[in-house]
Amino acid sequence: MLKNKRILLIVSGGIAAVKVPDLIRRLSERGAHVRCILTESGAQFVTPMSLAALSGDKVFQNLFSLTDEREMGHIRLSREADVVLVAPATANIMAKMAHGLTDDLATTALLATNKPVMIAPSMNVMMWNNPATRSNVATLQKRDVHVVGPGAGDLACGEVGDGRMAEVADIVAALEAFFETRKKSGPLSGYRALVTSGPTIEPIDPVRYIANRSSGKQGHAIATALSDLGAEVSLISGPTKETDPERLYVTRIETAEQMLKACQNALPVDIAVCAAAVADWRIADAASQKLKKDDGGAPSLALIENPDILATLSAGVDNRPALVIGFAAETEDVIAQATAKRERKGCDWIVANDVSNGFGGDKNTVHLVTTAGVESWPTMQKREVAARLATQIADHMRQQK
Ligand code: CTP
Repeated sequence: MLKNKRILLIVSGGIAAVKVPDLIRRLSERGAHVRCILTESGAQFVTPMSLAALSGDKVFQNLFSLTDEREMGHIRLSREADVVLVAPATANIMAKMAHGLTDDLATTALLATNKPVMIAPSMNVMMWNNPATRSNVATLQKRDVHVVGPGAGDLACGEVGDGRMAEVADIVAALEAFFETRKKSGPLSGYRALVTSGPTIEPIDPVRYIANRSSGKQGHAIATALSDLGAEVSLISGPTKETDPERLYVTRIETAEQMLKACQNALPVDIAVCAAAVADWRIADAASQKLKKDDGGAPSLALIENPDILATLSAGVDNRPALVIGFAAETEDVIAQATAKRERKGCDWIVANDVSNGFGGDKNTVHLVTTAGVESWPTMQKREVAARLATQIADHMRQQK
């Protein structure tokens, strides 16, 4: 159940931190990838070196470390996980979580995360029973923070009662149970997918932008269809009228650069489907203030090329998705253009469609271009195109196993 699960383990400063190396060992044995954030007081009980050696990853400690921020900002750190586990969770970190305080990397990551959070409290019995802590725990539980333990017994301070951090085996079991209840069934169960959808919009000034007519209908339908087959889906969408599908991780962005960043945050994934109509260019020098007519007549807008998200994902060295699918919206020579585009972008499949009659309808007529050749599908509802594509993806993933 924990195989390939990414656990961001936040170690705060309690004596139970000495159990963390064993916890990492047990999680790693089960195939989980553990990445640690160690608070300043946590480092009084356990060394970064031991956590790094056991987790096989860098241990993150400093919010303001330039190297960390360059390689892996706290936002990315908090999002590149399937679950955030705080163990041990002291009364202090729980209080900060309950009140949204951020004064170090751990609390900032906790406030910035969009992932489920589990805590394993550890403290003196009086601290645990203090009305302040009781109220903080209740607040956290109301916000769907999972609480495991604490157990009763001899405490490090010499007193007896509730406050002992849950046993390592119980924390592991709680994580397994957590993933079990979220497990979906279907041929894509256990696979992670990322789907881009909708347009990107590129600012000219704070009130104007360049955009395109993409509705996001096809991309959203694909994300839903993959999820219906059991995949865990991150949907990264530009501004659309479509509602966020349930059960998906949805990130709303505006510009191509933001879309690329959000896609990189969602990695690693097994399947990437780039259905977004990404703006090829952005304004080289977007104005920070509204452009005025009396600024000197009609402005000329210099454009620079946006990053190509599909090509970037396809070229990934360490974390290229096993299957990368792009779209080709063409107005002439649809199949020839799409075939050339597949090669140029380095993706595996291209879904090509003729947009000479515009974007935005409920139907689509597509051709699937793969290394094996071209399949032309009849005109269908976008929902049906999505379902058929998701089924072919599932068949492909099964054959690749
Ligand atoms: N795409 C992308 N990032 C970009 C441009 C396009 O990820 N900056 C993706 C789209 O999501 C789509 C595919 O690339 O899956 C093809 O998009 P399209 O606009 O048709 O291709 P371009 O490379 O822009 O080629 P052209 O406009 O010259 O036909």
